[in-house]
Amino acid sequence: MNVKDLFIQFFVSKNHQQIPSAPIVPENDPSVLFNTAGMQPLIPYLMGETHPSGKRLCDYQKCVRLTDLEEVGDKTHHTFFEMLGNWSLGDYFKKESIAYSFEFLTEVLNIPVNRLAVTVFLGDEQIPRDEESAKFWRSHGILESRIAYLGKEDNFWAAGETGPCGSDTEIFYWRSDEEIPENFDPEDDRWVEIWNNVFMEFNRNADGTIEKLPKKNVDTGMGYERIVAVVEGVTDNYASSVWTPVIKKIEEISSLPYKGNEKSMRIIADHIRTSVFIASDPAGIVPSNTDQGYILRRLIRRAIRYAKKLGIDINSNWEQDIAKEIIALYENYYPEIQANAKTVLKVLVDEKNKFNRTLEKGLKEFEKIVAKNTQIDGLTAFHLYDTYGFPIELTIELAQERNIKVDECGFQKHFQEHQEKSRTASKGKFKGGLAGDGEIETKYHTATHLLNAALKKILGPDTHQRGSNITTERMRFDFNCDHKLTEEEKKQVEDLVNEWILKDFIVTKEEMSKQQALEMGAEAMFIEKYPDIVNVYKIGDVSKEICGGPHVNRTSELGHFKILKEEASSAGVRRIKASLE
Ligand code: SER
Repeated sequence: MNVKDLFIQFFVSKNHQQIPSAPIVPENDPSVLFNTAGMQPLIPYLMGETHPSGKRLCDYQKCVRLTDLEEVGDKTHHTFFEMLGNWSLGDYFKKESIAYSFEFLTEVLNIPVNRLAVTVFLGDEQIPRDEESAKFWRSHGILESRIAYLGKEDNFWAAGETGPCGSDTEIFYWRSDEEIPENFDPEDDRWVEIWNNVFMEFNRNADGTIEKLPKKNVDTGMGYERIVAVVEGVTDNYASSVWTPVIKKIEEISSLPYKGNEKSMRIIADHIRTSVFIASDPAGIVPSNTDQGYILRRLIRRAIRYAKKLGIDINSNWEQDIAKEIIALYENYYPEIQANAKTVLKVLVDEKNKFNRTLEKGLKEFEKIVAKNTQIDGLTAFHLYDTYGFPIELTIELAQERNIKVDECGFQKHFQEHQEKSRTASKGKFKGGLAGDGEIETKYHTATHLLNAALKKILGPDTHQRGSNITTERMRFDFNCDHKLTEEEKKQVEDLVNEWILKDFIVTKEEMSKQQALEMGAEAMFIEKYPDIVNVYKIGDVSKEICGGPHVNRTSELGHFKILKEEASSAGVRRIKASLE
């Protein structure tokens, strides 16, 4: 029996009611494009409403997380995944939740206790250290040396800026053939997180204060793809039974082995699967240039490009055959996949034909561009998007393969101008989506400049930007640095950015020659690619950067800046993920 069925069977035997997976496009929640966690459709019930199925629930929920889209291609990332979850809505709490998780892992999945470790909440000024959870873990034989106490960043979970939240305890598994160390180090990535049990007893208000919810709830989530890989003893998720039939199909179609072609095959498998799930959702999403439709378009087009790389005949039915394999794998679990199978296949072939008509020409154009230029400016990237249907991410990816930079900032400027125009043209018809998100992205652009300047102040003037990526939820910033930032350094950087935001600096734009800009010490990441006349954005007297914009007018518009994570990106390069609240 597979892990999904075992999970449901186990929790049903513990008096939980199985509930169906909610649609992947949230109903009545325009704030997110896709469901990203099992608990999302349950928010009203965690807040106190009575659930028709009772106080103990379990399910497998279809989820899409886009933050890691570019990482897909390695062993562990996916854009779509299933989340196994069990909930107590004001019924049991820490003791039973921990006992159930422990029993399921060790007695149903037969995972040896010695391969497990846990983290619990360290405590802060508002919520005490979670000695209770630690005590329950010890009572099941988890040694003290395998319990790590971590702060809010790691052991506090919230679905969003407001709403239900609470401290959590996370369960880790030793996924390595090397000897299991006595002491648990959560930073050691041979320990992989497999299950998150959130004790949702608080509600966070818009002003950041937290208050007790009427009832104490439990919300757990376990990534299906990962747990199957763990149970089957593989470190490559795509080598587990979740994926092998799909990979086999791609091997057959391309007449190539998985080995040596992993990246392309994983991307094709992942993107077609996510497309099947998005296109079969009751929301009736079709490829477009906004919102969920844009994501669907990006996924299908990226899959096509990788299929081409494998030498697959794009005009054959390759995508239909892969999709059919996926439909067959999931139709017993998600009736909508079967019910909408025809629609899914049509969405795929229509989008393929549309892209195919311009892909060849676009690739030729791209080759011409790179033969003549050492970088791709914003207008050229926009031309590839507008005329040949190249999502900007595709242009960047193609450019990266040739070690060429793309002026993404400049692209966004042209893109937004274009959106402005079509928005005015179809007044009132435009809703949200990429156009609507421009405002948030603009804030992140400005925050990126502040972070760049703050890092230079705290870590030294030789610190420079190495990369950046902005989504509506967060900013990501890569910079050169030879060490992991200390807590102190992170705090100093965060404080400095917030101090500047509060100073309400005016952001100004000045046109000048590239030479002049360099002489005045303006920061420039890809200086070579800019034309002779550039825009320099100044933020008060703290930052000067060559950039295409757009930016906010005053720093107070940014709100509160928060570093979410600091980690290694590549040798000598660190990565910060941060958000504005
Ligand atoms: N909501 C938590 C998570 O997504 C547990 O389900 O990790």
